[in-house]
Amino acid sequence: MDGSTCMTEVSEEQLSEFAGKVMEDIGGAFAVLLSFIGDQTGVYRTLRDIGPCSTAELASASQVDERYLREWLSAQAAAGYLIYDGTNDYFSLTPAQAVVLAQEGHPACLQGLFQQLVSQFTTHEKAIEVFRTGAGRPWGEHHGCCFCGTDRFFRPGYAANLVNAWLPALDGVVQKLSTGGKVADVGCGHGSSTVLMAEAFPASAFYGYDFHTPSISVATEKAKAASVQGNACFVNASASAIPDGDFDLICMFDSLHDMGDPVGAARHLRQCLAADGTLMLVEPLAADSLADNLHLLGQIFYSASTLICTPASRAQEVGLALGAQAGERRLTAVLKEAGFRHVKRATETDTNMVLEARP
Ligand SMILES: C[S@@+](CC[C@H](N)C(=O)[O-])C[C@H]1O[C@@H](n2cnc3c(N)ncnc32)[C@H](O)[C@@H]1O
Repeated sequence: MDGSTCMTEVSEEQLSEFAGKVMEDIGGAFAVLLSFIGDQTGVYRTLRDIGPCSTAELASASQVDERYLREWLSAQAAAGYLIYDGTNDYFSLTPAQAVVLAQEGHPACLQGLFQQLVSQFTTHEKAIEVFRTGAGRPWGEHHGCCFCGTDRFFRPGYAANLVNAWLPALDGVVQKLSTGGKVADVGCGHGSSTVLMAEAFPASAFYGYDFHTPSISVATEKAKAASVQGNACFVNASASAIPDGDFDLICMFDSLHDMGDPVGAARHLRQCLAADGTLMLVEPLAADSLADNLHLLGQIFYSASTLICTPASRAQEVGLALGAQAGERRLTAVLKEAGFRHVKRATETDTNMVLEARP
């Protein structure tokens, strides 16, 4: 069947339905970039704080160019990202828009994800090149917004769940941390998870490890800012080279699937655990089969995985490329191959699964 035959078989209705869906996605892609501009220039925060206002008032209060702002506001109003009142030519944010677009730290605020996404467009030539050649793309070679966006997006979820729900779901761990335990956070990135735990359990010692030197520097600064440098420190190390420390708990937040040799790393971490220690693996929520992951969350995770996680794994030794939607069955197989005898799903959220593994 050639292309022209194929075309004649497409009904107008099917064509307009699918083209309409894609047009919506194009509108969404523009909205994300424009929204990130609103975040970086502080326009949303100003609009939220001063309330309904004219373009001129908002331009003056947020110190941006009035003409560009007018175009931006028009696009954002058309996208449904803010409200336009034609009776007085005023713009405003609804409470929900203010939370999603401007409330830093709220679990529903999506600017971190916007930032991560924009970073991928910024370096699209590299994405195309590795897609074609199959070469790896090290985590550290992404645009800086990728690291900041990742931390900004994940942190509110950790703040909401880690201390209150995930650690209590592990057998006996909270008790050990309350009286004084030793914890490693492997692939800690900017260290938000480490700092949150160090704040909650002052009697315990926390070590964040990552092989990305700039992230370790940021994490160290965050520990200082949170005044937890007494019981939290950050070390530049690859997962398979962290020192054996008789750890009571080793955590991995969204990092195992990025590793080139997750089996080798998990095997090494098992040896770094105390005999009755626990590995907590936090990974994106996913079903075991592709067919069951074909929904919006799956689309987002598979997309990030195509651009970031899979090439990051490929850039390392072994290059297993688990992907961000590996699913519980595959992750359990990795942990069992690494020598963990007991693996179970301890808990989950709408976006993450938490696996508990014991030697
Ligand atoms: C998606 S980021 C998650 C960062 C952090 N855990 C968080 O939740 O915000 C993955 C992290 O794993 C780190 N990483 C990947 N492979 C690693 C390895 N083999 N050894 C140590 N760190 C690694 C990366 O440098 C990156 O900081």
